[in-house]
Amino acid sequence: MSKDLSKDKPKEKSKAKPKPWRPFTTNCCTVDNQLVLGNLSRCRPTRAEFSRRIVDQFPSFRRLSFSDLSSSSSTRVTEDLAHNFGSGLHNFQLSELRAITQNFSSNFLLGEGGFGTVHKGFVDENLRPELKAQPVAVKLLDIAGLQGHREWLAEVIFLGQLRHPHLVKLIGYCSEDEERLLVYEFMPRGSLENHLFKRISVSMPWSTRLKIAIGAAKGLAFLHGADTPVIYRDFKTSNVLLDSDFNAKLSDFGLAKMGPEGSETHVTTRVMGTYGYAAPEYVNTGHLTTRSDVYSFGVVLLELLTGRRSMEKSRPKVEQNLVDFAKPYLTSSRRLRCIMDPKLGGQYSIKGAREIAALALKCVSPNPKDRPRMPAVVQILESLQNLRDMAITNGQWPAAAAPRSGRNNVRGMRRDVRAGNYWKPSPLAPSRKG
Ligand SMILES: Nc1ncnc2c1ncn2[C@@H]1O[C@H](COP(=O)(O)OP(=O)(O)OP(=O)(O)O)[C@@H](O)[C@H]1O
Ligand SMILES: [Mg+2]
Repeated sequence: MSKDLSKDKPKEKSKAKPKPWRPFTTNCCTVDNQLVLGNLSRCRPTRAEFSRRIVDQFPSFRRLSFSDLSSSSSTRVTEDLAHNFGSGLHNFQLSELRAITQNFSSNFLLGEGGFGTVHKGFVDENLRPELKAQPVAVKLLDIAGLQGHREWLAEVIFLGQLRHPHLVKLIGYCSEDEERLLVYEFMPRGSLENHLFKRISVSMPWSTRLKIAIGAAKGLAFLHGADTPVIYRDFKTSNVLLDSDFNAKLSDFGLAKMGPEGSETHVTTRVMGTYGYAAPEYVNTGHLTTRSDVYSFGVVLLELLTGRRSMEKSRPKVEQNLVDFAKPYLTSSRRLRCIMDPKLGGQYSIKGAREIAALALKCVSPNPKDRPRMPAVVQILESLQNLRDMAITNGQWPAAAAPRSGRNNVRGMRRDVRAGNYWKPSPLAPSRKG
């Protein structure tokens, strides 16, 4: 779920998938929403603050306090969640989730993220009378103390209340002793990351890429359009899940945060997210706005165009950071051709690609104010859906001079399992609240 970023270098690549660094929590705790600093790190006061705000925001949550919940026993947490969500979310027993996933068997493994494994499960009509028979995805959080619990709680609180066709549906949760689990609707086509960069060898057609971009943009537009905007903070290809018709849905709300209110222009928080997607001003100052999500969206647009990952340590230095590498190619059709995903084989609209490149360039503007808002992004993307000026049929493929890629290009993409994408937090990274 969550990743901690800082200005430290990304971790060295390794074959085993590394766990993201997690804040050291033994020496620090929140007391009555006051932050007590420990020697090595800080808790994230923003979680408590977020929850206080979410409590104010949603009438049904008046009695639910994040700070109360995060430090109370698992029995108490589930009682409070059950009280607030009622039948909207199912409070599962661990034994039920073991049963539907064959004891979290590796045969049912859907994937693994920084905070644990995700398993497929089958709910039959006997499990709960009010729950229809369906496949589900069960995320088993490998929590480390309070921190993992907070991520879990943030996800339950956000996804328990936000419902939209382009957000993955949370069906329920489980909190028993040290165990924290989440149960989602099953997304049969997995993540966009898998389709763009991994196992699936068939290239994703242009129209599908566009459809996914539109769906994901609508999800973000919905979050940003709430009375108090929600900042998603972890927009990336692995968090865009796909249903059987390639409708995109955003998952993973462990880092989501309520946006600024009133005259505030931003919220200030510890830098969390994924290296390569996080907006530069956020990484540098901790200032977070909805425009930070727009930047990450721009990065994903570039990934959709080029088939390259946001960060690829296996490439030559100048090509490792996709934004830096791609920028000079985005302003001319001729140059753009050189960085289009070769897997598309020229089956893309020339005008569509040009417009998306221009849009992506705006989204990744260094100045957040120059970035478009998500509803405008949706509008532009939707206007490109029916273009038929395919590069291959217009004699514009193959591109004349593709940029030189690194050795073992394709193998490198597979190996780059987010190993270098996590940054350790700096113990000095200030929590610039207020
Ligand atoms: N609801 C779901 N339906 C189907 N597959 C899912 C679902 N949720 C997650 N997955 C699969 O499990 C994988 C791991 O998801 P998870 O969110 O734990 O980690 P991640 O997004 O890959 O990394 P991070 O920890 O950085 O978020 C996803 O990439 C996806 O392939
Ligand atoms: Mg994820």
